[in-house]
Amino acid sequence: MVIDPTNVRVKRALSALAHELGHASVDSLIDAARTRRASIEPELIAALTNNETRFFRNPAAFAAVRSEIPRLRELRSGGSLRVWSAACSSGQEAYSVAVTLGEAGLDPSQAQVLGTDASREAVARARRGHYTELEAARGLPASVKTRWFERADAGWQASEPLRRFTQFRSHNLLHRPAAGSLYELVMLCNVLIYFDDSTRERILGHVAGTVTDGGLLGLGPGDPAPPGFVLAGPPAASLYRRQATRRARVERSA
Ligand SMILES: C[S@@+](CC[C@H](N)C(=O)[O-])C[C@H]1O[C@@H](n2cnc3c(N)ncnc32)[C@H](O)[C@@H]1O
Repeated sequence: MVIDPTNVRVKRALSALAHELGHASVDSLIDAARTRRASIEPELIAALTNNETRFFRNPAAFAAVRSEIPRLRELRSGGSLRVWSAACSSGQEAYSVAVTLGEAGLDPSQAQVLGTDASREAVARARRGHYTELEAARGLPASVKTRWFERADAGWQASEPLRRFTQFRSHNLLHRPAAGSLYELVMLCNVLIYFDDSTRERILGHVAGTVTDGGLLGLGPGDPAPPGFVLAGPPAASLYRRQATRRARVERSA
């Protein structure tokens, strides 16, 4: 992650963190980050990015995913469909995918959604699956809310049947995904905007590598599709399908 200390937005975002961590200036915090990357990185990411999210944030994307579910299931000869919500914030994106799978008639033995985020607080919130009335009102149709959520603590709690579709853990996109990670659907939405060009390209390369042949990658509006991916729905959905690799095509025709 390249931090530009001359950027006014960066300076403003980091000044409170510098003070909190006992640095005399933002420059001193950035120097420390360069030498002690691992320990400071999560705090830097939290200060430089925001957790803004909502349920079904891009409705066109979820509609396109819904219509692709039968095809995605055919990509798996057995086992459950695997989905990764790669910067899931407080979980609304992962639960929106889980609802989409549930509404399509799948059960948790047939599909699993992994939500990850660099922010440990966001992951803890996602795991809890509790949303205020206002958060729930942002994107959740009333019928979906009453089918998949329960009233709790003056808000709405993801119900047990919905939670069984999901798992959440911390993952920093600046690091490689675990070896062998493969998904039929990966959502990488509204996060690449926070990075400089070379970091964005690196993250996109790592994440695209986890999409199985024929699988889907959801991006934020305006994010560039990685090589080997083609549009899989209306442009507004920002959903891309991974074309089969030459090796897979040769294996299939053999
Ligand atoms: C604006 S939210 C987007 C949430 C969701 N994907 C959506 O589209 O509604 C961006 C999220 O990216 C996370 N994030 C930022 N940098 C990250 C990184 N290096 N690794 C993992 N998550 C990161 C932030 O913590 C935040 O929760």
